[in-house]
Amino acid sequence: MSPNRADPRAIGVFDSGVGGLTVLHECLVTMPHEDFVYLGDHARLPYGPRGRDEVRRFAHEIGVYLERQGVKMVVVACNTATAAALPDLQEELGVPVVSVIVPEAHAAVQATRNRQIGLLATELTVATGRYENLVRTLDAGAHLTSVACPKLVPLIEAGDTFSDAMLAAVREYAAPLKQAGCDTVILGCTHFPLLRPVFQRAFGRDVTLVFSADETAREVAETLARKGIENSGFENGAEREGTYRFLTTGEPELFRSLGERFLQLPLGDVERVTVAELEAAA
Ligand code: DGL
Repeated sequence: MSPNRADPRAIGVFDSGVGGLTVLHECLVTMPHEDFVYLGDHARLPYGPRGRDEVRRFAHEIGVYLERQGVKMVVVACNTATAAALPDLQEELGVPVVSVIVPEAHAAVQATRNRQIGLLATELTVATGRYENLVRTLDAGAHLTSVACPKLVPLIEAGDTFSDAMLAAVREYAAPLKQAGCDTVILGCTHFPLLRPVFQRAFGRDVTLVFSADETAREVAETLARKGIENSGFENGAEREGTYRFLTTGEPELFRSLGERFLQLPLGDVERVTVAELEAAA
């Protein structure tokens, strides 16, 4: 490492699809001098209806693949993979692993006034009970009402963000949380902040929506600093702008057009990585 402690390695970020771009966006804004490589596992999306062991295997394959690509940190920008696989990934990988879920549980417990918290997430995230456990650990008197939302990820990945089907699904999933009187609702899937205005309208102004993209980005920056592995931000004496690149197990062109819409930044060329390559890495 150079005397100014610059560590030029990229940060790996992954999700089943475009949802993790909500986290990547905050990382790009918070750490404009760092390089990022983002992997979307589109060929195996959605993760939500799958079993825990299967998602754990996918997360392991992707984590090891990214580590072999030489990343200095892995960001699990997927609540489902976090819920299913986080402790295993942290044990298996040699680089630090940062994820979502914990910051959201914290933020929700702090934000609620009536201690009625709602959770919107995938089936698997709800089934693992991770949020339930965290909320109870932080405030045993808080109550969590969880709703699995299987229709949303496929609709978002189809680019179908304003259709009647989407609005009907949002209303359907919001109803039990309104019924329960939740004043704080966790958008517990990295795809869901892409629908934030639709959710806010469904719940009304008085309900606080919680998601962890900015908290996660802050944790990434703090972890890099604490471990002394941040990029110095300078190259040959001049300020440097970081780069980012994208990989998908699905169709690169589809990912590029949808990703640009959601990231609001040019994606450039998207590279294809096959599922077989991920399996081989593990
Ligand atoms: N963005 C993923 C998450 O945060 C979506 C999971 C899926 O593919 O169903 O849970």
